[in-house]
Amino acid sequence: MSVTYDFRGKTAFVTGASSGMGLATARAFAASGAAVGLADIDAGAVEAAAQELTDAGHQALALVCDVTDEDQVAAAVDRTVQAFGRLDAAFNNAGIMPPPTDAADENADQFDRVQAVNLRGIWASMKHQLRHMRAQGSGAIVNCSSLGGLVGNPGRAAYHASKHGVIGLTKSAALEYGPRGIRINAICPGTIHTPMVDTMIAAGELDRGQAEKGQAIDRLGTPEEIAQAVLWLCSPGAGYVTGIALPVDGGYTAQ
Ligand SMILES: NC(=O)c1ccc[n+]([C@@H]2O[C@H](COP(=O)([O-])OP(=O)(O)OC[C@H]3O[C@@H](n4cnc5c(N)ncnc54)[C@H](O)[C@@H]3O)[C@@H](O)[C@H]2O)c1
Repeated sequence: MSVTYDFRGKTAFVTGASSGMGLATARAFAASGAAVGLADIDAGAVEAAAQELTDAGHQALALVCDVTDEDQVAAAVDRTVQAFGRLDAAFNNAGIMPPPTDAADENADQFDRVQAVNLRGIWASMKHQLRHMRAQGSGAIVNCSSLGGLVGNPGRAAYHASKHGVIGLTKSAALEYGPRGIRINAICPGTIHTPMVDTMIAAGELDRGQAEKGQAIDRLGTPEEIAQAVLWLCSPGAGYVTGIALPVDGGYTAQ
């Protein structure tokens, strides 16, 4: 059985769209009929990702954008609305994972950089999406938190702080915009097999076998499984769902 969504006539915007779960979600939105704005700091990769979608007959726009720069974010969102006429769904997903560090040794620049991408980037993205959705009176936003938004992990204080912050941002904005027809949720992926996780495994920061044993469903998640959850949250099927932090983590946070 396969689950399908119908986003024909709708526009979606995805950050971190050229890799991992952002790319999988951009592909899923496009396959469901949405026009997609793909934003990423990696110019070559985001142009290739958008080209793949247009070659397959979908509407897609590559947007080179560093989410730490509010002006770039505003321009990317505005260009998407100019190109496709509206904004219905967004997945604010761009993020980075710094190397683990003892909390007593954490470098201030590293701490600031993680917050700038993972938290401020989502703040800026959501802010400029809401300007369009507020005028439209409709829309659905999904912000990418993590299992790291729900629990702690040794060596990961800065990353987990950023991901806990995403949930606070999401809940408050959801309460503010629920009465105006806009739903805002967070997703909390577990360990998902993406280039980010491959890098952690290669660096010896993560043991794949241990990571698999850490969840009830005894394997890593796939980017496509995250995309499915994002599309559901943006669909009318989730019409009464707002302000949640949805774990898609194979049971990790059930322990
Ligand atoms: N992979 C996991 O296990 C996992 C688990 C929980 C949460 N997450 C979160 O999911 C999101 C996506 O992770 P992924 O695993 O797909 O990673 P990934 O590294 O495969 O993709 C991240 C994308 O974000 C882009 N990016 C990074 N900095 C950016 C910036 N400043 N501006 C714009 N784009 C930027 C990168 O170029 C890349 O395309 C991140 O927020 C990550 O923290 C990942």
